[in-house]
Amino acid sequence: MDSSSIWNLCLILASLAPSALCANLPRPVNVPFGRNYVPTWAYDHIKYFNGGSEVQLHLDKYTGTGFQSKGSYLFGHFSMNIKMVAGDSAGTVTAFYLTSQNSEHDEIDFEFLGNRTGQPYILQTNVFTGGKGDREQRIYLWFDPTLKYHTYSILWNLYQIVFFVDNIPIRVFKNAKNLGVRFPFNQPMKMYNSLWNADDWATRGGLEKTDWSKAPFIAHYKGFHIDGCETSVEAKFCATQGQRWWDQPRFRDLDASQWRWLRWVRRKFTIYNYCTDRKRYPKLSPECRTNRDI
Ligand SMILES: *[C@@H]1O[C@H](CO)[C@@H](O)[C@H](O)[C@H]1NC(C)=O
Repeated sequence: MDSSSIWNLCLILASLAPSALCANLPRPVNVPFGRNYVPTWAYDHIKYFNGGSEVQLHLDKYTGTGFQSKGSYLFGHFSMNIKMVAGDSAGTVTAFYLTSQNSEHDEIDFEFLGNRTGQPYILQTNVFTGGKGDREQRIYLWFDPTLKYHTYSILWNLYQIVFFVDNIPIRVFKNAKNLGVRFPFNQPMKMYNSLWNADDWATRGGLEKTDWSKAPFIAHYKGFHIDGCETSVEAKFCATQGQRWWDQPRFRDLDASQWRWLRWVRRKFTIYNYCTDRKRYPKLSPECRTNRDI
C-alpha cells in the first residue's frame, strides 16, 4: 500500500468512526493559486494553468523563482501538492516553508534537494525559533517525488509543529518551553514556496553541480491550501486562540498510530538527525527527548 492509499483509508475509517486513528486531520481544500498566494520574485518564471489551479516554477541559469502567501498567520494547517523537478535535478532546491519577518525569526522548513537522474531526492527539514536553527533532519522519501503529486503539510498550534508527507508525520517539534526551548507562538508567519539553484551544497554536499544544459528545471504545484488564523504582521496573538480545530485536544500530540508512523520513518528513511549528531552538537538539545528523536 502506498502512502496516498494509506491516507485514503484513514479518511474512510475516520468518516465511519471518528477516532484517534490518523488523527482526523481535515482534508485540505484545493483552491486556485490567487486565493492565497502572490509571486515573490521573477514573475515571468511562474506559469499558470487551468485558471491558476496549477502552477509551475521554472529555474534557469538566469534565475529561480518563488511565491508567498498573501496573509500572515499565527497557527494553522498549511499544505501543498508538489511534483518535484523530474530527471536531472542535481543542484536544485525546492522549498516549502513558513517564516516570520523579524530578525529573531521563527521558521518551519521543508527543503527538497534534487539529484542526478534516478538518484534519490533528500527531504531536509529544519525549525528556527527566535533566530536559532541548527535543527536539521534529513530523510529519503519512500516514493519518487517526481512521478506524481504528493501532499506536504505543516500543522502548527501552541502545542506542536508537525511535518507531514501524505499525512504521515515525518517530524514533530513539541512545545518544550518548560525545558527552556523557545517555541513559535507570538509572531505570525507567511508561507513561501521557491525553486532555486544551490549547487554549492545541495547534492552530495555540493559535489554534484547543476547541469544547465537540462534547464529549465520545473516544479509543479497544486492545492494551495491554507487554514490558519490570519493576523496583521505585527500581531502578538491570534484573536480566536483556543477556538479553532487545530487547538483542540486531539491535535496537541501525535496519537499512537502517528507515533508508530514516525518511528517507521526514523527507522527506515532517516539519514541525518541533529539530535544524534554528538560530533557537531556535543550537548543534546532538550527538545530531542520530548520529540522522541533519540
Ligand atoms: C543523491 O544520490 C547519491 C547517490 O545515490 C546519494 O548519496 C545522495 O544522498 C542523494 N541525494 C542528495 C540530495 O545528495
